[in-house]
Amino acid sequence: MIWDTVLSEDALAIKASEIRELLKVLDDPEILSFAGGIPDPALFPVDLIQQIQDRQKRQDDLHRQSFQYSSTEGYVPLRQWIADRYTHPGISLTADNILVTNGAQQSLTLLSAALLDTRSPVAVASPTYLGALQVFEARRPKFVAVKTDDDGLIMEDLEQAFRQGVKFLYTIPDFQNPGGMTLPEERRCKMVELAHQYGVPILEDIAYRELYYDNPPPPSLLEMEGRFLGEGCWSQEGLVIQIGTASKTMMPALRVGWTIAPPGLMDKLTVLKQANDLCSSAANQMLAFELASNYLPDHIAMLRDVYATRRDAMVQALRQNLPNSVHFSPPAGGMFVWLTLPIGMDARKLLEKALEQEKLAFVPGAAFHADDGGDNTLRLSFSTCPPDVIKEAMERLAQLIKREAP
Ligand SMILES: Cc1ncc(COP(=O)(O)O)c(C=O)c1O
Repeated sequence: MIWDTVLSEDALAIKASEIRELLKVLDDPEILSFAGGIPDPALFPVDLIQQIQDRQKRQDDLHRQSFQYSSTEGYVPLRQWIADRYTHPGISLTADNILVTNGAQQSLTLLSAALLDTRSPVAVASPTYLGALQVFEARRPKFVAVKTDDDGLIMEDLEQAFRQGVKFLYTIPDFQNPGGMTLPEERRCKMVELAHQYGVPILEDIAYRELYYDNPPPPSLLEMEGRFLGEGCWSQEGLVIQIGTASKTMMPALRVGWTIAPPGLMDKLTVLKQANDLCSSAANQMLAFELASNYLPDHIAMLRDVYATRRDAMVQALRQNLPNSVHFSPPAGGMFVWLTLPIGMDARKLLEKALEQEKLAFVPGAAFHADDGGDNTLRLSFSTCPPDVIKEAMERLAQLIKREAP
């Protein structure tokens, strides 16, 4: 059987992720990786999990229930915790506004199924999160790539995209993956205004929002929309749908993410999830709830301290060693530093040399672009290495770039 002849058009449209292909070489223990956008496993709250599980085992009925099928919408105490945490003036959330998903990735999948038809135009930043592009791609949309600068999406370009009648905008306003940019408050305000002017929903992905190392980011788009609409209007008129995850603040293996959506959309998302996987793991949702409601502020404070020193080490080493022809803007949070190499320099070729000569890995930036741009860009992640290792590796990477630059 030649599978290409029987695969569906949707399956044929989906491409292998460049990051996953790249991660295959990372099995080589000699390679030092700045490629994966993953949290450091050494920082996972494993002792707290042990304590929670020991407590849970003493409540036999509840403990057994945690391994049972559960409601599609999610574990009510967790949904209530999320609703309380993200309630703002103008946005009064209840558990009914929250759908727990198998990671933010499933939120993207369900939203994409709910909102996109084949050839639907969809606005995405250039660059943006590769995993989102992959999800959308499966529905064969028409990507409208919106330009960014060091502050994120450029409003004039966004308005042009909205004028074309896109189905929605997908955006990561805080410490963006892969670019590290954070959208300033004025642009957030403008974005919400434009969404209402043109009637375009915004999918706001807040995966990195809690990981700030200087000051908290400006109010979320959801919060801005609450201010814009006024009390009590969001459930009827809201256009901002927010996607969150426990992966970056707790652990990815919990596979706990969520979508915050107004009722009209929530009903459809719930049926789609039911068809997709019936329910998320109750055991994992209970763990996430216990972690979130008892320990999260201290744990996140620790993550901020550790990641901030790694961010500083990377930024300082790059500042001191990169040639002036390479541009980067230090991120105020998240996990990524985004480099723009001189025009004409290809980051894929640089990666081959980096692997071969320096045993270093990063992600070439073209993969994060829905258009054809980004050949001279690359993403470095500072989340998994100690500062001294980062410093030494960045010095070597900068030397390699100097050798290869035109
Ligand atoms: C911006 C962004 N959104 C969503 C995800 C997926 O998160 P989850 O583990 O919750 O599926 C990631 C993972 O890297 C991400 O960077």
